Amino acid sequence: MCGIVGVVGRVDAAPRLLEALRRLEYRGYDSAGIATLVNGHIERRRAEGKLINLEHVLDRHALPGTTGIGHTRWATHGAPTERNAHPHGTTRVSVVHNGIIENHAELRAELEAEGVVFETETDTETVARLLDHHLAAGATPEGATSATLKRLNGAFGLAMIFAGHGRKMIAARRGSPLAVGYGEEEMFVGSDALALAPLTRRIAYMEEGDWAVVTDSGAQFFDAEDRKVERAVKLTAFSGAAVGKGNYRHFMEKELHEHPVVLGDTLRQYIDPSSRAAVLPELPFDPAVVPRLTLSACGSAYLAAQVGRYWFEQIARIPVDSDIASELRYREPVVPKGGAAVMVSQSGETADTLAALRLLKQLGQKVLSVVNVDESSMARESDGKVLTVAGPEIGVASTKAFTAQLAVLACLALGFGRARGVLSAEDEARLTAALLEVPAHAAALLENGEDIQDLAREVVQARDVLFLGRGSLYPIALEGALKLKELSYIHAEGYAAGEMKHGPIALIDPAVPVIALCPSGPLFEKTASNLQEAAARGGRIMVFTDAIGAPSLRRFAERVVVLPTVDPFVAPILHAIPVQLLAYHVAVLKGTDVDQPRNLAKAVTVE
Ligand code: AGP
Repeated sequence: MCGIVGVVGRVDAAPRLLEALRRLEYRGYDSAGIATLVNGHIERRRAEGKLINLEHVLDRHALPGTTGIGHTRWATHGAPTERNAHPHGTTRVSVVHNGIIENHAELRAELEAEGVVFETETDTETVARLLDHHLAAGATPEGATSATLKRLNGAFGLAMIFAGHGRKMIAARRGSPLAVGYGEEEMFVGSDALALAPLTRRIAYMEEGDWAVVTDSGAQFFDAEDRKVERAVKLTAFSGAAVGKGNYRHFMEKELHEHPVVLGDTLRQYIDPSSRAAVLPELPFDPAVVPRLTLSACGSAYLAAQVGRYWFEQIARIPVDSDIASELRYREPVVPKGGAAVMVSQSGETADTLAALRLLKQLGQKVLSVVNVDESSMARESDGKVLTVAGPEIGVASTKAFTAQLAVLACLALGFGRARGVLSAEDEARLTAALLEVPAHAAALLENGEDIQDLAREVVQARDVLFLGRGSLYPIALEGALKLKELSYIHAEGYAAGEMKHGPIALIDPAVPVIALCPSGPLFEKTASNLQEAAARGGRIMVFTDAIGAPSLRRFAERVVVLPTVDPFVAPILHAIPVQLLAYHVAVLKGTDVDQPRNLAKAVTVE
């Protein structure tokens, strides 16, 4: 996902833009650039690769000017080269963009027919050329912006500066979030509050379709119909202090070790320690009577939702449909009157999840979102929200946010079960007690990670890896496979253990480690039997279990990692940690970019 920053300031813009872009590095990118106004003219510096390369360019060729825009690019159209790096523009205007202009080819053809010569393969240059076309015809920056926005289809967050307008910047958002920051006689624009934290904590979030004229005296917002509108200024929670890695090598390592604290913080929000009852947030629907829940998300968030599905059905006895957002939004789902949806997202900005949310609202479902970013698009567009208390998650791979999502979903399932009269106070107390013990188990597990590091040395040699789980641990097997793929680039597949005989057992081979989640509990025997069948065919079984399950598994498993013994209800939360830790250690051994794996972005705000 691209990052955007802009400043109409009182001191040189370039260093401030660079610092703000550093706060956006976690999003993943492959090139970067800055443009400023120097004596009314636009000047630009760009570089391929990481921000350090842009910093070196700026060291060689300083960029003065107190008004400017900056960008980190995650390539969608055009290779990740300096030539395609933003900002894009002409002598009249410079633009940075996050999103995809879906009708860029049509617009490009129209402009080329009028003699415009394009320099890049990017969709963003089309925006710059369209603006330039209107400016050349005598339009003001505001007029050119209004006319251009009406021609664009697709998703965009834009920030623009204009030659001869040294104290002005224009920003626009449709589908990609943008925030306006308020300083002392200076103003800012950024993709999110984290980027602006070093500059200000006074933020106004632009709404869908908004555009804004930002000058050093403030911001004037306009809606999609060019009507003047007001946007509230809020104080963000983010401090100016950089979110650092502390003593850890990577943000991911730090965030893995934050599981216990984040789980504790999140559970304390939704469990009353005295009554041992789940505390439900304000809900946009009545859980006692809602006929069905539709769960949707992407990636790891979807896998958390999948665990939630087991809990909502088993504990609250609510019928549940679930699907990945990129499928649900085109599947023409049939949803019941009076139904509800639960969306799950760390960023609250994932394009497919947001689109699925909007579709479900159009279909009359009340939407509750489980998100980690309070002012995100999903938080604001939902009928209700439940916040995970994970703090900023910088590593592209979702770790602490994932287990926080599970903690929230577990508490919701308990509260819904109580509301529907299908969960006794005694059972609820037993299950909330099991939840409240998880942070301590997680801490113990993290302190004794040597077994997992040993396992990583085995797995790093593999070309293919199979992850197996049953019941609510099946989505955790999928999460283990996803993490291994996205961090170490080793192919891995997660499978329901019971499915082995329907095909995947043909994969069993000494070169294919089988990593299984098989703690004691109602599904232990079944899962152990699947593993024994694989072992009997030469499979190398590496299993996560507990002290109760270990003795019988040791008879055929090559490696047995013993985790704390917990109630099966909370096993998915606990087992998520070692599979993430395993992927982390394998990635470190492979030497991949752990915090920003290749081709990935922290939030996928484009389809
Ligand atoms: C998680 O490790 C992945 N990086 C990715 O699947 C992520 O969970 C997914 O893109 C959803 O992001 P969200 O939670 O911000 O919506």
